[in-house]
Parts: sequence; structure tokens; C-alpha cells
Amino acid sequence: MAEKVTISVIKADVGSVCGHTRPHPSMIEKCKEVLADRAKQGIIEDYYVTRVGDDINLFMTHYRGDNNKEVHQIGWDAFTEATKLAKAMHLYGAGQDILTDAFSGNIKGAGPGSAEMTFEERPAEPVIFFMADKTEPSAYSLPLARIFLDPFTTTGLVIDKKAKMGFDVEIHDVIKNKKVVMSSPEETLSILSLLGDTSTYAIKRITSRAGIGPAAVVSTDKLNLTAGKYIGKDDPVCVCRAQSGLPSVGEYTQVFMNTMLAAGWMRGSHYGALYPCSPEESTPAYFDGPPRICALGFQLCNGHLQGLEAPGIIGDKQPVDFFAGAEWDYARRNAIKASRFMRSQGPFMPSILGPEEMEYTSRPEVLKELTSRFENLD
Ligand code: 13P
Ligand code: 13P
Ligand code: MG
Ligand code: MG
Repeated sequence: MAEKVTISVIKADVGSVCGHTRPHPSMIEKCKEVLADRAKQGIIEDYYVTRVGDDINLFMTHYRGDNNKEVHQIGWDAFTEATKLAKAMHLYGAGQDILTDAFSGNIKGAGPGSAEMTFEERPAEPVIFFMADKTEPSAYSLPLARIFLDPFTTTGLVIDKKAKMGFDVEIHDVIKNKKVVMSSPEETLSILSLLGDTSTYAIKRITSRAGIGPAAVVSTDKLNLTAGKYIGKDDPVCVCRAQSGLPSVGEYTQVFMNTMLAAGWMRGSHYGALYPCSPEESTPAYFDGPPRICALGFQLCNGHLQGLEAPGIIGDKQPVDFFAGAEWDYARRNAIKASRFMRSQGPFMPSILGPEEMEYTSRPEVLKELTSRFENLD
């Protein structure tokens, strides 16, 4: 049996220029340097460093499996080095997502988000990396539900024999730190009854029931629950394999033509519409948003990422940038329209999140001051 390849994405916000906008270019360069060195050492096969809004995303391929200490160490090293630069420049939120002083061997719980999948590389293996800023892991639940559970969205579920065999959906209770695996199509309606509660449940992983292996994996790390206080939003990634028994590339991207609300822009405390765009256009400029979503595509080639660059080049990649084109202007315009509508509600729900979900609020202090003034009604 062929050796299994692993795709690991580790991402973090470790500082940005002028509020929560974008990292300084030198921070991205520093991350590239660290990853180039570790590729030279043979720890990883290939890599790509990019960003969405103020989050730096490290894409890595290797043969060391999920949760590998050396690979996670790379993420830790890159982000602690980039943090030093951010601190020296007094950038905003310098070291924001670095929650510990010492690395324990796994990036989970240390602050950065991670998503990893390990599988046997097929002869043609298209991979899409979705990256989001100003939102939370459950932002992927609605699009992934439409892609994997809805035959009116994904025709492949009807006409592709292997896709028709269905998918196992691993759902996390992000508050209680529990997981459950449910199967589609049999349990589709029950799956949706969980996922509809985006404050508690999020899709972690979707696996083919036709033996193809993992189809999608999301970074479900809840930064603020880890930190115990609000420091920034999770800004999750989602890695997807496509075609031949899995949703096609176009079936993955098409759902983002719909306008979908997600929690997390402005102080992590508002609902806004997902705005599909190129990483180049991902600097959140309106009310710290709206929440950005980018999609970058590669082919895997013997454990390497093949984009539009010359074959064999390590690190210096040119992915297919799915949301860069003018066809997405329609979705972007609708996202702005929906986001403006939400803004028209000001500090009223449902423009702001519900009380248990607000990342911070002055209400406890207000209520304390009012304790003696509150009177019982008859
Ligand atoms: P092509 O015929 O262009 O290869 O596309 C096939 C396909 O299934 C696209 O979704
Ligand atoms: P980030 O999570 O992207 O750092 O944004 C935090 C925020 O509160 C922006 O208003
Ligand atoms: Mg930030
Ligand atoms: Mg961010």
C-alpha cells in the first residue's frame, strides 16, 4: 500500500497593521523562511504561506501523519518568530493567538487553529483550501451541509455512484468538547437539527463512505474558550478533496454564490454575510468585515502541491484563486447588501449575537449598578 500523505494547515493571527486588517509582509516572509528551512530538513515535503485578513495560514504536506510533533513545532516556530516582528513594530494584537509560553508538542490548545487530513493520494487529487477571517468554525456548517447533504446543490450526490454511498459527518460540540459521527443520507435531518445551532455545533470532518477517505476537515479550535476570554475570532480553515466520488470542485465553490450569515465580525460579536474574495482582497475594510472567505486550489503530486508555478518548485506557489474573478462580484454585492441590512439594526439582536455568545459585554456591570433600582413588578 502506498504511503499516506498528510495535509496540515496551521493558522494564527499574531498581529496586524492598523487594527485587525492584515499582517505585515515581513511576518509572512519570516513564516516562509521557517517553512523553507523545515522543508530543506526533510520534515515537510512542500508548503505554501498565505493570509486571509489578519490571519496567516501555513499549508504543509508531509508523510508524518496527523498530530505530528515536528510538524506542529513548525507552526509554533513560524508564529513565535512572526510575533517577535509584530511586537517590535508595535502591531495591533501582536502575538494575539499565542496563548502559552512553551510548546507542548501539539499546537492544539496553544492558540493557533489547525486542520489535518491523511489519505492515500489518488492519481489526480484536487485539493481546495478554504480560509475565513472574522468568523467561527461553524461558519462552514451551512456551506458544507449544502455541499454534502443536499442533492439539489450537489448533483454528484445523485449521479456519482460513490458519492451516492454517502458521507460520515463528525460533529463537535465545541462548548462541551465532545464529538459524534453521524451518517448521511440516512441521518441528514438529524444532522441538520444539530448543525442549525451554530453556537454549539460545528462540522470537524467529513469522510467518504465509499472508501476514498477524508473529504473535508475544518479547524474547529475555539480560541476564546481556550483562552478563557475574548482575544480574537477563530477564523477557521477548511481543507477539501474533490472529484471522483467526492463533490466536484465546482460543487464546492457554487454554494458561496448564496448569501450566508455567519457570526464573528466587529469585536467578534456581530452577524455579517460571508464575502467570497481573493486573499489579495481579504483585508476587512468595512466594520472590520464582512467575514471573508477565500478558496485556493492545488493538485497534489507525490506529496507536493502543484499550482500554476513550474513543476518541482517548493514553497513559491501560484494556486488557483477561485474567488478572484468577476463572477463573484454578484455574491460580493449581495454580501455587502445583507451586511448593511444587519448593520441597520445597530446594537440590537440579531445584528449582535445572543447574550451567551457575545464575545464581551458591559451588561454585568450595568446590571450591578442597577441592582438597587430594579423593582419587582406586581
Ligand atoms: P470536463 O469535461 O471539462 O473535464 O469537466 C467534467 C466535470 O465533471 C466538471 O464538473
Ligand atoms: P480577528 O479575530 O480577525 O483578530 O478580529 C477580531 C475583531 O474583534 C475584529 O473586530
Ligand atoms: Mg486580529
Ligand atoms: Mg482574523
